[in-house]
Amino acid sequence: MNKYEVIVIGSGIAALTIANCLYKNKNVILFTKSNKLTSNSYKAQGGVAAAMEKEDTWEEHFLDTLTAGVFHNDVHHTELLTKNAIRYLTQLINDGMEFDQDQSGRLRLGREGGHMKRRILHSGGDATGKNLMDFMFRNVQDKLTIVENEMVIDLIVQNDQCIGIVTKAVHGEIRQYFAPFTIIATGGAGQIYKFTSNVETITGDGIAMAYRAGAVLADIEFMQFHPTILYKNGEILGLVSEAVRGEGGFLQNSRGERFMEHVHELKDLAPRDIVARAIYQQLQKGYDVFLNITQVKNFANRFPTINRICRLNGIDPDKHLLPVIPGAHFMMGGIKTDEMGQTTIKGLFAVGEAACTGVHGANRLASNSLLEAIVFGHKTAEAILTSDIKLPKNCSVLLKTNSESIILPTKQEIKEKMIAYAGIERNEISLKRVRNWLESFDFFNITVYDRRWEEIEIVNMLTVAWLIVTSALERKESIGSHFRTDYPKTPAKKIRREITRQIQKDSIRARGVEI
Ligand code: SIN
Repeated sequence: MNKYEVIVIGSGIAALTIANCLYKNKNVILFTKSNKLTSNSYKAQGGVAAAMEKEDTWEEHFLDTLTAGVFHNDVHHTELLTKNAIRYLTQLINDGMEFDQDQSGRLRLGREGGHMKRRILHSGGDATGKNLMDFMFRNVQDKLTIVENEMVIDLIVQNDQCIGIVTKAVHGEIRQYFAPFTIIATGGAGQIYKFTSNVETITGDGIAMAYRAGAVLADIEFMQFHPTILYKNGEILGLVSEAVRGEGGFLQNSRGERFMEHVHELKDLAPRDIVARAIYQQLQKGYDVFLNITQVKNFANRFPTINRICRLNGIDPDKHLLPVIPGAHFMMGGIKTDEMGQTTIKGLFAVGEAACTGVHGANRLASNSLLEAIVFGHKTAEAILTSDIKLPKNCSVLLKTNSESIILPTKQEIKEKMIAYAGIERNEISLKRVRNWLESFDFFNITVYDRRWEEIEIVNMLTVAWLIVTSALERKESIGSHFRTDYPKTPAKKIRREITRQIQKDSIRARGVEI
């Protein structure tokens, strides 16, 4: 029998943080349905936010996170995130991770949307995710079992405890693995939308299998659209980091109008949901939208990845106008966890984008996603090291099979419907339309074991799409990334004003000023 102490599903920063914390004490096995370097983390251009400078405080980072999240955030978890950011980033630097520095050896901190201060650490300009992953893999790759090209298709839950997983190898063989601790670190579900920054493998697998297993999910209607995805002739070419706007890039429409000037006091550096919606509205009016980089100094050196993507696709950065559209980028909701990554099922943990810790509220603050993976990856590892959960004596499971033929839509059809009816703007009519279409496929009763990989991914995409749409119908308000044209924006509640006032006082006090 395949027995381990810890099963990790996924190979991004959340998975690697846990692996790094556990490999010395636990027998860890890590699965990825692709190869270990295919992940959103690996492609992450933006960096990691942390109040590392004397002029900054965790309270200000905390307040910016709550403001971007429209105060829908879990306040306690957000405090943990922003406080521990400093601790874990310092630890990474002490362990040898190299973040970009200026000539005097100080961290070169960038600014992105929604941050009132420069506090983003980058590595290799716009290659932070790649450099972090290379760094983390170097430590662990010979010290744990890494299984590539094997898809985890379901969780095994017995007597309300997760005791392992079922996988399918590329050639179709079904396998079972058992462990007292299973961690879902599979990312979100960007691929259910036609336009997305996510890599092709991000089809909502972890969230769908947790739902099938009966785990509680939360905030699933909040899908963040990144404002600036490079776009040419109907095709998505790659992300253009918000850091470009942090260095002076600005948006304009095809008439040359700087439309963000009239939308928000932070203009092009407003929180992401606001910028994405403003671009969407320009596109609806029939204008194209461009990121003007005339004022960005040393673009090719500062943003080598974006520069390369542009040139490979026949876009000349020296002409200073990059064509962009918004695309699905990050799911704020997911599998509900406590501060230690524990889900509502014993033995099952979730970390990173697949999890909903509540730190992002209704809209994630830029560069808080790698940070969440690092902070809550550590917390989850801590929980596992101190837990006494054991596997039951008898772990063998008989899998029910059903190979009847089924009718499923194509991935492309799901993507088209979701972008059209459950995208940046939605309303009751559009959501019901896509919900009815999704429900015309009987994906709830499909046993996944007998299906091909692509069919399993489609079932997972349908499941998460349905969860987004039904949750979006339930939430009868407009807040953050969930914008309903048939409901007004939720007005700032008294509690939001109170939290803001209190934090402002605390942060002023933290700088030694009495109030
Ligand atoms: C970006 O570089 O704009 C993306 C970073 C993030 O998602 O926070």
